[in-house]
Amino acid sequence: MTTDETTGALLRETAERAIRYLMGLDARGVAVPPDALARLATLDEPLPDGPTDPAAVLALLDGIGSPATTATAGGRFFGFVIGGSLPAALAANWLAAAWDQDAGMSAICPINATLEEVALRWLVDLLGLPPTSGAAFVTGGTMANVAALATARHAVLARVGWDVEADGLFGAPPVAVVLGAEAHASLLKALGLLGFGRNRVVTVPADGQGRMRADALPPLSGPTIVCIQAGNVNTGAFDPAGEIIARAHAAGAWVHVDGAFGLWAAAAPGRAHLVAGCGEADSWATDAHKWLNVPYDSGLAFVRDPESLRAAMAATAAYLTQSGQREPDQYTPEMSRRARGVEVWAALRSLGRDGLADLIERTCRYAARFAEGLQAAGFQILNEVALNQVLVSFGEPDVTRRVIAALQAEGTCWCGGTVWQGRAAMRISVSSWATTEADIERSLATMVRIAGDARP
Ligand SMILES: Cc1ncc(COP(=O)(O)O)c(C=O)c1O
Repeated sequence: MTTDETTGALLRETAERAIRYLMGLDARGVAVPPDALARLATLDEPLPDGPTDPAAVLALLDGIGSPATTATAGGRFFGFVIGGSLPAALAANWLAAAWDQDAGMSAICPINATLEEVALRWLVDLLGLPPTSGAAFVTGGTMANVAALATARHAVLARVGWDVEADGLFGAPPVAVVLGAEAHASLLKALGLLGFGRNRVVTVPADGQGRMRADALPPLSGPTIVCIQAGNVNTGAFDPAGEIIARAHAAGAWVHVDGAFGLWAAAAPGRAHLVAGCGEADSWATDAHKWLNVPYDSGLAFVRDPESLRAAMAATAAYLTQSGQREPDQYTPEMSRRARGVEVWAALRSLGRDGLADLIERTCRYAARFAEGLQAAGFQILNEVALNQVLVSFGEPDVTRRVIAALQAEGTCWCGGTVWQGRAAMRISVSSWATTEADIERSLATMVRIAGDARP
């Protein structure tokens, strides 16, 4: 065998193993089995002195690693907000990994530069954003918030004559940051990373669904960034964008939308009303690895004024090529990175406008079915189920926690817990193309049975 034949055999075997893994998901429990978890310890060995046959490395990884995964790629994982991987997106990910392109520069990776531009054009249309927006293809919602807020920081300080990229934040005019009481933790993390301070923010009270109360917005003046949310991670609720953005813009503030999953409601005609007004903002963060169902990791930051995004992110050096076209690395925090645009393009190209609308609509419908079934069984739904998120209480906090633990151990499906405004709840998030009606009915029946058994 030549080296090429050996590599070919290894990759074919890898594909076989991956296919076997995916085909086996329906028959296995969703959680990581305890014995598989325990076997991970066998990987904790001294680094061998000599080389190991790659096929043996793969066999070890598959043998120990594959069973120690949570079946998030299957149809019955409803934890956090985790989408599956669409077949076209997964296939594109494999091919792009074989290409091993550095996606930052168009001269080195013209395919990614092209697909980012095409996908960007499609995305701003699907998400109802200004057609001339710029975008950064980043690792996820957190980094999308970082990229967008770094751009906001650039713009609001540039307006008062301060060059934050050159001169930093020490001695800069103060910037007020306003957000809702139920803003996502990643937004605070982003603000901390950017030097705004996690605690140095003005927090606006939220209503019972987690929506920022527009009537409680403080008077705004001077350099200000207002962060609103499209899709609360617990309830799925949307801040009243139209009212808040109008008031913020009247005061000259920048408005950023954290729409990690909720922004995708714009792509489904039956849900688009939920994001009404969001398109008037200045920047938006969303995930592709959540509701667009591309493999991890993949997030998107959009900015109305691409020049501000470029000004916040660009770096130059004599050895770096500048082609005169959109250079991906001039719009992202990273310089070298993988070609995320390839999978985003593949997902959109395979779904089409109608397929994406159907993915969003179908998963929302399944969430409503969970809510209806659990309510009919006598359990309390804590949120208005308008999107793909359901919060259910099974009674006393201890009972709810016991039901969650028992459900995870039983294995049919997987849901996590939360505390929503002081009440223990189980979170159900339906975010995967792989989920079928049969998955919903089977999971619902299991939840009702386990919660029934746990009744005091
Ligand atoms: C509203 C919101 N913003 C940001 C994030 C963070 O996204 P990521 O985990 O992709 O960084 C999440 C994750 O669930 C989210 O729900």
